[in-house]
Amino acid sequence: MIVAIDGPSGSGKSSVAREIARRCGLTYLDTGAMYRSVAYVCLERGVDPDDGDAVAEIARQIAIDFVADGEGQRVIANGEDVTAQIRTPEVERAVSPVSANPRVREVMVALQRSAGERGDVIAEGRDIGTVVFPRAELKVFLSASPEARARRRAVQRGGGNLATGQSVAVDAADEQRILDDLVRRDEYDSSRETSPLRPAEDAHLIDSSSLGFEEVVTNILSLSPELSARAEGRLS
Ligand code: DC
Repeated sequence: MIVAIDGPSGSGKSSVAREIARRCGLTYLDTGAMYRSVAYVCLERGVDPDDGDAVAEIARQIAIDFVADGEGQRVIANGEDVTAQIRTPEVERAVSPVSANPRVREVMVALQRSAGERGDVIAEGRDIGTVVFPRAELKVFLSASPEARARRRAVQRGGGNLATGQSVAVDAADEQRILDDLVRRDEYDSSRETSPLRPAEDAHLIDSSSLGFEEVVTNILSLSPELSARAEGRLS
């Protein structure tokens, strides 16, 4: 089966998709990590992220692999482990123009579909239900208020863990910066011409602003008999 989880950054979709993959025996596909990898290679090679031709060429040549590592996975781009490097503020800034490039999207979507052909995938991103897998068995659009998303990011950056509920003290100025950055990225992702962020017509909308991690996971599992059967089979 194919499960599509879309939504803005900080909506919690990565942790939720990873947990559902674990419980249901699905392969987790982090499509944001793919766009981030292209952005990282651009920066490494001194390519301007706004140089459409050069960026498209890097996307056409890049090899991206996901390698299981304990509970998580590592991202390998052109043979280099870039798991940590693709999360830096430099890459965050470069990834918006890179992911707005239609030729980059064409290549990434083809790679994502071929991962889906092997079946049993939960893919997470912005255009999974609308473009990549329009016939996915289950589509979820996970949103949350900008304030709730900024808080989660700040907790994550401070070393807290949303899945386990481990919390940390959050710096207010840092949280405000994260909020400003999120709002800017949302505007960019929602207003770009190619595959703007929007829910598929047949997506289930979940606002996670006031829901806990486990509530969101349980909520999604209950939307699909196949998904809940898989989860129960693994738990018994
Ligand atoms: O989910 P994320 O923050 O790792 O995504 C990084 C960037 O890639 C973000 O600016 C949106 C973009 N993206 C996209 O355009 N399409 C996807 N399917 C996934 C991510």
